[in-house]
Amino acid sequence: MCGIVGYLGKKNTKQILLDGLKELEYRGYDSAGIAVLQNGNFSNYKAVGKLINLEEKTKDFITEGFAIGIGHTRWATHGKPTELNAHPHLGEFSYVVHNGIIENYAELKKELQSSGVTFLSQTDTEVIVHLFEKNQKNSTNSLEAFARTIKELHGAYAILLVTKSESDTIFFAKHGSPMLVGINGEDEKYFASSDTPLIGHCQNVNYFEDGDYGYVTPKTVAIYDKNGVKKEAKFTSLSQNKLSAQKEGYRFFMEKEIYEQSVVISDTLMGRLSDKEIIFDELDATLFDGINEIKLCACGTSYHAAMSASYLFERYSKIRTSLEIASEFRYREPIMSKDTLFVVISQSGETADTLETLKMAKAAGLKTLVICNVDNSSMVRLADATILTRAGIEKGVASTKAFATQVTVFWMLSLYIAKLKNSLGESQLAKHISLLREIPSHVKVKDDMHERIKRLSKRYLHGHGFFFIGRDIFYPLALEGALKLKEISYMHAEGYPAGEMKHGPIALADPELFTIALLPKHLHYEKTKSNVEELSARDSTICAISQIPFDKADDFIEISPCSDYMLEFFEMMTVVQLLSLEISIRLGNDVDMPRNLAKSVTVE
Ligand code: G6P
Repeated sequence: MCGIVGYLGKKNTKQILLDGLKELEYRGYDSAGIAVLQNGNFSNYKAVGKLINLEEKTKDFITEGFAIGIGHTRWATHGKPTELNAHPHLGEFSYVVHNGIIENYAELKKELQSSGVTFLSQTDTEVIVHLFEKNQKNSTNSLEAFARTIKELHGAYAILLVTKSESDTIFFAKHGSPMLVGINGEDEKYFASSDTPLIGHCQNVNYFEDGDYGYVTPKTVAIYDKNGVKKEAKFTSLSQNKLSAQKEGYRFFMEKEIYEQSVVISDTLMGRLSDKEIIFDELDATLFDGINEIKLCACGTSYHAAMSASYLFERYSKIRTSLEIASEFRYREPIMSKDTLFVVISQSGETADTLETLKMAKAAGLKTLVICNVDNSSMVRLADATILTRAGIEKGVASTKAFATQVTVFWMLSLYIAKLKNSLGESQLAKHISLLREIPSHVKVKDDMHERIKRLSKRYLHGHGFFFIGRDIFYPLALEGALKLKEISYMHAEGYPAGEMKHGPIALADPELFTIALLPKHLHYEKTKSNVEELSARDSTICAISQIPFDKADDFIEISPCSDYMLEFFEMMTVVQLLSLEISIRLGNDVDMPRNLAKSVTVE
């Protein structure tokens, strides 16, 4: 996701900014830029794609002596990943970089436009710099103008702003997005949106709190709280370990990525929901013309997301949907007809088997769509259309947030098609859209829930196997829960349709067989419950996950109240991810790099 750096001092400003952005690369981005104010002149460079492109553009740009500079890596949300949309954004004589979302940007933009301001980008960020310059005209000083600007912004932000008239000052504000400032004894100031760019430069840092704003100069760090009251900086010493800094206090990247799901799903939804419909600017509605079937094809976790989609597409979009494991599809001489939309799902966009099936579908003349997390990946380049999932870079080999965003996209896509095909009434559509808005709060990890799972996990370190069971869309979630567990704990786990247990697997039931039962209140509760009771009667150890207490379970993990089964899906998804994580940690395994597995499988 987006990253911010800033520097004020006498060292090589350009290099410090570029090196800082490099440290943030692991978060994922699609364009980058810097702005430097030196000897009264601004220099600004932006480039789409990797930082190497920005380095190339700035290779003849030299910074010597005192300068102030800001830099940014952007992960596109409002507006495409173009150079114009890359930060820093320019007003007439100021530049700004921003992480987060300005929720009221459309109103502010309208007001500014009506007073004659011209906007160059499609971003929400650009309003900040124009608003600041407007306020500067009616304020006694730049700090007052900045404070007034911040007051007018709604949403989440970390902001750095530099302006020509204050050539030794960087303004900052933080609300909802992380940012810190570092100092050393050399009258330098360093800013960043996470620790790593500051490591090696500063020993002491101040983490801004929500509502903080202010400015720095060579000699000052002035911080004001949300009421405009001046406060003392609280400097703490900065750990000098880069890898642990990237993990931001979490034990493993997988844990960090589970905790990030709420934020990344908000990003996935951003700009794609109106009150009445789903907006996919990236899709041409004619993509679905003449289409009578959707074929979904993927590997691993992405396959489980695809299977979830198959339930949603048939239920809401009323379109025939089939499902394929890519490595099977490749060699089984499948029949492909042109009224089929071929959809591949891939976190990386590079998985060899999935990529091959996409090539086959193209060769057979089918229309193709990819649901992917990596822009410009091989699949994105090849497919007719792309929906990006916006999960940010996923480092843990066991996929978590990528899966969460894939299912979110599929839920949206099922409604998008439903609207095209008129298969859902207006009020149903509106109801789903308001449910979609609730996902981020349902995947937020609650401390007491995590603590409970941590405690429970010690009972599940042995046994001869796990069955994750569920019905309907909770069956692919059961498959995904079992896959997570086996990937990182190396214990045998299977996902099974709850109703199918009696046709064989129930023979395995005994106290050393652990059943993880997904019991949604709003979808086939009674039916699933009977299946769990059958296992309980045969003495399998049961861990039930539900919002309704279940007395036949040995362990019970209660999820928050949900008004719809899809919200229960997302709650339970987080539970099964955390359960695998905690079991694996107790077993002493390397959660992020499990044995024998690779993040991106680019060989057959
Ligand atoms: C590998 C990874 C899995 C992933 C699968 C498909 O096996 O370890 O986590 O689900 O590839 O990857 P993709 O990038 O296509 O989603």
